[in-house]
Amino acid sequence: MIKGGNRLEGNISVSGAKNSALKLMAAAILGDSKSILQGVPKIRDVFTMIEVLNRLGIRAEFKEDDQLVIDPSGKISCEASYDLISQMRASIVVLGPLLAKLGEARVAMPGGCNIGSRKIDLHLRGFESLGAQIDMGQGYIQAKADILVGTPVLLAFPSVGATENLMMAAVKAKGVTIIENAAREPEIVDLANFLNSMGADIEGAGTSSIKVQGVTTLKGTKYRVIPDRIEAGTFLIACAISKGNVIVENACPEHLGMVLRKLRDAGFDIQEQDASVRIIADTRPKAVDIATLPYPGFPTDLQAQMMTLLSLADGTSVITENIFENRFVFVSEINKMGSNIRTQGQHAVIEGVEQIEGARVRCPDLRAGAGLILAGLAAKGTTEVEEIGHVERGYEKFEQKLNRLGADIQKVSEEIKETAKAASEFVGGSEKG
Ligand code: UD1
Repeated sequence: MIKGGNRLEGNISVSGAKNSALKLMAAAILGDSKSILQGVPKIRDVFTMIEVLNRLGIRAEFKEDDQLVIDPSGKISCEASYDLISQMRASIVVLGPLLAKLGEARVAMPGGCNIGSRKIDLHLRGFESLGAQIDMGQGYIQAKADILVGTPVLLAFPSVGATENLMMAAVKAKGVTIIENAAREPEIVDLANFLNSMGADIEGAGTSSIKVQGVTTLKGTKYRVIPDRIEAGTFLIACAISKGNVIVENACPEHLGMVLRKLRDAGFDIQEQDASVRIIADTRPKAVDIATLPYPGFPTDLQAQMMTLLSLADGTSVITENIFENRFVFVSEINKMGSNIRTQGQHAVIEGVEQIEGARVRCPDLRAGAGLILAGLAAKGTTEVEEIGHVERGYEKFEQKLNRLGADIQKVSEEIKETAKAASEFVGGSEKG
C-alpha cells in the first residue's frame, strides 16, 4: 500500500548486483576449493540459486552479513531439475560450469517467460562449437563432452547469458576460445574478473571480442560483487518522480552512462561522484525518446521505471523496446492509474499527463513491478500493488529503503523468506526469471 505524494530526500546505498551475483555463484562451481562472495544481495533469486547449488551437492550459505560461502570441493551432481530451473531462468548458467568441470550437464529446459520467449539457442550452439554434444528430450538439455576445445564463436546477438555461459565453459577448454559479438555489460566484466581471480585467463571482457585461454585448474577466491546498476537507476528515477533530492551511494556512475544522460535530457540535475550519484529534481520531466539496447545502450531492465516517469512528462515520449518482446505488459496496469500510454509492436507512445491517481494494480514481472511502485510514489491517493513477490526476486529491502527516503509504503503481505525452501514454496512456479 503506497500513499503517494511524498518527496524523497536523503542518502541510500545500493546492494550488490543481482545479475552479477547469480553468475558468480554459478562460476564458483569451477573452483577446486571454496569461494567467498561479498556484497551478495539477500533477494529471492539468490536464495533460489543457493538451492540450485545445494541440490547439485555444492554447499552454499551466508556466513555473516552479505558474505556467501560456496564450497564446490565435494561430489557434484551434473543434473539440475525442473522445479528449480522453472523458478528462475537464470539458473541455466550452471550449464557452462558443469560441462567444463564434469564433462556432462543435464539441466531442465527453462520454459517460457512472461517477458518474451527468451531462447537459449545461442548458448547451445556455442557449446556445440566447443565440441559438446547437445541432446534435448523429456524437458531436459543434456550436454556432454569428453574434452572441450577452444575455437572462435560468433554470437548472432550479444546475449548476456550466452556470453557468460560460454565464458564459463571455455575457461577450462583446451586452447583459445574467442567470443565475437560478445555482450559488453558490466556484469560480464565482473564475471571475467572473478574467473581471473580464480586462475582463469580471460582478456577483452567489456569489449565485443573476448579471448579465453583455457587453463587446467581454478581455485576458490574472495571477491566483491559490483553494485547493482539497475537498483541505482531505479532509485534515481524514484527520486525524479517524487521531485526529490537524493544521493545514491555505492553506485558506479560509469555503469549508468545512458541512464544519466536520459535523466539529464529529461531536465534533472545529476551530479556524479566517484561512487555515488546525486539527483536534484524540482521540475516536471521533459519528454524524451528512449530505445533499449545492449550495453552501453539504455537497459531494458529500467524501461518500465522510465516509462512511469515519462508518463508524467510535459509532452509525448516514445519508448522502443529492442530486447524483449513482452515488456509492455505492464502498460495496461499503469494506465489504470491515469497514464496515457498506447503501444504498437515494440513501440510505446507516452502522452504525458500532469497527475496520476492511486489504483489497485498487479505486478506482471520484476521490473514492471518496480515501475508500478514508483508510479504509486507519484500518484494522488493510495496505490495497492499486488504480487510484489516479483519485485522481491530482485530488490533487497526495496520498500524499507524507499521509506527511509521518506516514502510511505506499507507491506501488507508476501514477506521475503530467508530460506530457499520457503522462497521456492512462495514462488509457486508461476514466475520465470
Ligand atoms: C540478462 C539479465 C536480464 C536483462 C538481459 C538484457 C540476468 C539474470 N538477466 O538476461 O535482467 O534484461 O540480460 O540485458 O542476468 N536470446 C536468443 N537466444 C539466446 C539467448 C538470448 O535469442 O540463446 C535473445 C533473448 O530472447 C532476448 C535477447 O536475446 O530477446 C536478450 O537476451 P539475453 O541478453 O541473453 O538476456 P538474459 O541473459 O536472458
